[in-house]
Amino acid sequence: MERNALCWCGSGKKYKKCHMQIEEKIQLHKANGEIVPPRKILKTPYQIEMIKKSAALNTAVLDAVAEKICIGMSTAEIDRIVYDYTTKHGGIPAPLNYQGFPKSVCTSLNNEVCHGIPDENIILQEGDIVNVDVSTILDGFYSDASRMFTMGKISERAQRIIKVTEECVQRGLAAAKPWGHLGDIADAINSHAQANGYSVVEDIGGHGIGLDFHEEPFVSYVTPKGSEMLLVPGMMFTIEPMINEGSPDFFVDEDNDWTVYTIDDGLSAQIEYMVLVKEDGIEVLTK
Ligand code: MF3
Ligand code: CO
Repeated sequence: MERNALCWCGSGKKYKKCHMQIEEKIQLHKANGEIVPPRKILKTPYQIEMIKKSAALNTAVLDAVAEKICIGMSTAEIDRIVYDYTTKHGGIPAPLNYQGFPKSVCTSLNNEVCHGIPDENIILQEGDIVNVDVSTILDGFYSDASRMFTMGKISERAQRIIKVTEECVQRGLAAAKPWGHLGDIADAINSHAQANGYSVVEDIGGHGIGLDFHEEPFVSYVTPKGSEMLLVPGMMFTIEPMINEGSPDFFVDEDNDWTVYTIDDGLSAQIEYMVLVKEDGIEVLTK
């Protein structure tokens, strides 16, 4: 780009006063053999503003679930809460019809790792731990986050895996720095999980998000510190490790082709946040 031309990002500033420094820096890192993000995944100020609105609705949907979720409720009822709240506020649940997914939200209980399908016959019981993973499209912009919910009195085993999963995500967030690497986040998460005797699922991970549901990069939570893509201001992706009590291995439901279960029937927990890399740090866009 010509230095005095208006920047491609739509900021209204000249390229030399806007993305030129960042892009020169990216080129230097690339020449050093680093994996760098393509320009198309660096969000513009306008896109960031719109994606933040989508993320705010996504948070409100999760809050609506949090208010109502209880023992005796079916996961299909959670699906209705998500569909109704989202559409009433002008959004579209991103999972609905996504690659054939039949519902508006993923609800994954106990030994389910992720992608559980809401069902009238799955009734929340005392002692259950449940991940509710909500993803929203608002005016064409995507957001994604998940929380763990606990039903009544849960076992110490269940309490511990949720606590450690929260700690893993917080450590991942703390390790995320502009001009650092995705692997720094992964290493912070994986080492804390392992120190607590847990494992991190390897083949399912996080993803870029914002303009589409799943964008580049794939975000692993098991890669070494200093490895993987450089974290450049404007990147947006999810931090959503799946922490297993036992083996990291899993299998997919043969009947519905979606629900992922731990191979050894151990518990699994997951918490997901969506983050934006900025010049001065990381911003968490969801709750
Ligand atoms: N929310 C899930 C994620 O974090 C998306 C699962 S795809 C679905 O990537 F179709 F199951 F929703
Ligand atoms: Co996600």
